[in-house]
Parts: sequence; C-alpha cells; structure tokens
Amino acid sequence: MLGTDIAIDLGTSAVKIYLDGKGIILNEPAIVAVNVETDEVVATGKEAYAMVGRTSDKIDVCHPLCNGVISNFDMAQYLISTYLKKISNSKVFMPRVVVSVPCQITEVEKRAVVDAISAAGVRKICLIEEPVAAALGAGVDISTPHGTLVVDIGGGTTDMAVLSLSGIAISRSVKIAGNVFDEAIIKYIRKKYNLIIGQRMAEEAKKAIGCVYPRKDLSNHRVKGRNAMTGLPQWADISCDEMLEALIEPAVQIVRMIQEMLEKTAPELMGDVYTDGIILTGGSAQIYGIDTLISKKVKMPVNIATDSEICVALGAGKAIKFIDDMENKGYGVLNPLSAAY
Ligand SMILES: Nc1ncnc2c1ncn2[C@@H]1O[C@H](COP(=O)(O)OP(=O)(O)OP(=O)(O)O)[C@@H](O)[C@H]1O
Ligand SMILES: [Mg+2]
Repeated sequence: MLGTDIAIDLGTSAVKIYLDGKGIILNEPAIVAVNVETDEVVATGKEAYAMVGRTSDKIDVCHPLCNGVISNFDMAQYLISTYLKKISNSKVFMPRVVVSVPCQITEVEKRAVVDAISAAGVRKICLIEEPVAAALGAGVDISTPHGTLVVDIGGGTTDMAVLSLSGIAISRSVKIAGNVFDEAIIKYIRKKYNLIIGQRMAEEAKKAIGCVYPRKDLSNHRVKGRNAMTGLPQWADISCDEMLEALIEPAVQIVRMIQEMLEKTAPELMGDVYTDGIILTGGSAQIYGIDTLISKKVKMPVNIATDSEICVALGAGKAIKFIDDMENKGYGVLNPLSAAY
C-alpha cells in the first residue's frame, strides 16, 4: 500500500474514501459514539448510526462535521484515522490525499481539515472544491472554456457553482440540505399531530415518501414517536402531500439561491448553462421532484447525475492524477486542485 494515493470526501452525513485504481472503498456515516464518563469511543460509522436516538445517558452520539466543516476537531481526527486504518492492510500507509472542501469555507476551516488529515499520517494533502469534484465525478469535461452549472445537495450544505476551464467562475453555498429536510419533517409532524419523532425516523420517512413536487404514486408511511402532551407512544400515517407541505419551503430556498447565482453569472457562461442544463449531485438530489421543481422555476433542463451521492468522492478520486502536476509545475490554470499542503 505504500505510495498509494486516495481521495476523501469528508461529508456532513458520510465519509467516502476513494482508492486510486480501485474506486470507492469506504462509505460510512460521519458519526462517533462516545462514553461520556470515560471519553472513550464506543463505536464509529454504521455502528454509531444504529445508536442515534437510542443511546443511554452514558453514551453521546457526536457528528464531528456540521454543515460541511469540522465542528469537533478531536472526533473528526479520530474518525479519519480510524477509516484510514480500516482501508490500509499494511502498517506503512502514507498516502497522498485529495480532499474535497465546500467552496466558501474560511482559511481556519480549511486548516482544520488539513490538520485533522495530517494527524493520520499522510505524505501530502491537496484540496479540491466540492462543485469541481462533483462535476468531474458526474463525468463532465470541465477543462474547456464552456460553462457547466453543478448543484451538490448533500446532508449539511448545498454547494453550487458555474465552472469553466477547470475553475469556478461563480459559486454559492447554503446551509440547507438533507439535515434541514429532516428537521422540517420533525417540525411539521410535531405541529400537525403533536407527535415528537426522532431524526432517524424523519430521515427514513424522507427517503420512503419525501417529495418537493406533487407525487401521487405512493401509499402512506407510518412514523412512530411520543405524544408531546401525554408523553405516551403514538404513531401517524403520513402522506406524500404532507411531505410536500413540510419540505417545499427549504427546497424553494435552494431554488432561490440558484436563481440568485444565475443573475450574477456572465452572459456567455449563462448561454452554455442554458443549453446544457443543470447537473444535480449529492445524496439529497435523490429527493423526489427536486429536478422538476428546479427545472420549472429556473426554466432550464435539470439532470440528476448517476450515483449522485458519491459524485464528489469519485471526482476527487479522478483528480488524484493532478497531484504530480501540482508538485512539478505549481498550480497551473487547468489543474482542478485548489491548494496543496
Ligand atoms: N433517496 C433519498 N431521498 C432523499 N434524501 C436522501 C436519499 N438518499 C440519501 N439522502 C440524503 O442525502 C444526504 C447525504 O448526502 P451526501 O452523502 O451527499 O451528504 P454529505 O456529502 O455527507 O454532506 P455535505 O456535502 O453537505 O457535507 C442525507 O441527508 C440523506 O438523508
Ligand atoms: Mg458532500
């Protein structure tokens, strides 16, 4: 394994790792469960996700990333080193790493990502901005002087950018994505049925019948929780129309951000985007009707990328081949990588 290069997508919901020559070899929730009395880690990834909302008072489930950036440095570092150990079958594993970062993060936030990964023992770290990686992962040739609009709707943030010549012409980032959809469902059900449900239950309902455009084909979905007044167990059968009511507001906020960015996009690039349409990536691009909603409001074709959830990791993986250029020739205009440490 010595000398192997990898790419990491450090997402709010999940960490994905791409191994050069192999593809995506790890996709695990970005969650750590900690014993609050001893500060010891009890579980990580899928095992920790199974504990969400089901812990005793001795265990705290922690999300080390919030809205695409590290919010708990020690836990993020722990998570990264655990996953790197998991994928390496040799003791000597000093990879060069391409890591994706949201396009509008501060230098301090960038530094936290670099430091957390360095601590795991790597040779070199190169950064790639998420929309650039998303476009590469969706199979778009971004090196030409042609505008491409990518919108990555993840768990914590929606990152969007118009790309040309391997760089970002204009970009926006909003903290509205999958987690906000889950919260909107929780709020709606509490208000309408006086029923308190957990985040996992809300996410399951969203994946089963969630929609941001009228959906007729599905039956109701049962959610279970606790009555806010009596404290007793309660359930409700939720319909697609109710989901639409709960989710339309955050979805429209994403659309508004796209419209606002397009208003500021250079006319030539706008022409390209108008012909090719918008590319949607990220796990939340799979929510029913998001493509139709955006297409109707922005009046352009919208396409959801294949395997939208792993596009950023795939694209960061494809950018591994640019690490040598970065080392030999400096940054270069057509290098999709944005910085090296
Ligand atoms: N079928 C589906 N319908 C609706 N939402 C979905 C579906 N599948 C996954 N999601 C949502 O996608 C989100 C995770 O997407 P993704 O893996 O792209 O996020 P991330 O990269 O971890 O986050 P970010 O890029 O914001 O830091 C979660 O909120 C999840 O609930
Ligand atoms: Mg992401």
